Amino acid sequence: MITLKSRHEIELMRQAGKITAAARALAGAMVAPGVTTREIDRAVYRYIKSQGAEPSFLNYQGYPASVCISVNDEVIHGIPGSRVLREGDIVSVDVGAYKDGYHGDCAATYPCGQICAEAQRLIEVTRQSFFEGLRYAREGYRLPDLSGAIQRYVESNGFSVVRDYVGHGIGTEMHEAPEIPNYVDPRMGRPRFLRGMTIAVEPMVNAGTHRVRVMKDGWTVKTADGKLSAHYENSILITDGEPELLTDPDARAE
Ligand code: MF3
Ligand code: CO
Repeated sequence: MITLKSRHEIELMRQAGKITAAARALAGAMVAPGVTTREIDRAVYRYIKSQGAEPSFLNYQGYPASVCISVNDEVIHGIPGSRVLREGDIVSVDVGAYKDGYHGDCAATYPCGQICAEAQRLIEVTRQSFFEGLRYAREGYRLPDLSGAIQRYVESNGFSVVRDYVGHGIGTEMHEAPEIPNYVDPRMGRPRFLRGMTIAVEPMVNAGTHRVRVMKDGWTVKTADGKLSAHYENSILITDGEPELLTDPDARAE
């Protein structure tokens, strides 16, 4: 069931989204050669708790950390640990915060020091694909309009869209209906966007094949061909006009 949020619920989602976006910015600002992924996770945990919120991911289906940190050919769900970031890595950070009964969820890929031109282009195409989809995230359009816009933009730039993982509705649960694929499939539903829907749109874009594999840790998802992958996500509110970004892409680390 797709829920429509009331004005009060939307206000609570803005608060959760604000903390989530600041946590992403904090994590992104820490990405640098020599930093371990665990250090980033600890800082994000402390920040979210300091805001009176809970990390949405911690203990979610047994997930052991507050952030997912996925480096280079890791697509999503990388578990923070002793890995030391190196110059030239691309680092995807995905974070969620839960406050007063509502979740925020967002992600972005950050360069570690100087990265190669192709990696930079992958990050930019992934981010822009989100904004291409966003044009259709308003009343008057249907889900496949958004999904198709993301897919067209990614593929016309020579990259591929991950199929096995998708975006989602968000609210009192981190994952609500509907699923928000970043590609079009004739078998998928065609729900209409209505004001008051809150969704997380999150293109995962691979430099090579769209195929992915789950590692033995049960979480880390990598590209099947070992090529790079990038991720970009915001939680948004559907309105009758411009969508509202609940996780501000320009939030600053505090
Ligand atoms: N942010 C992811 C999503 O958008 C969820 C992370 S899975 C977790 O669906 F286990 F780490 F929480
Ligand atoms: Co998400």
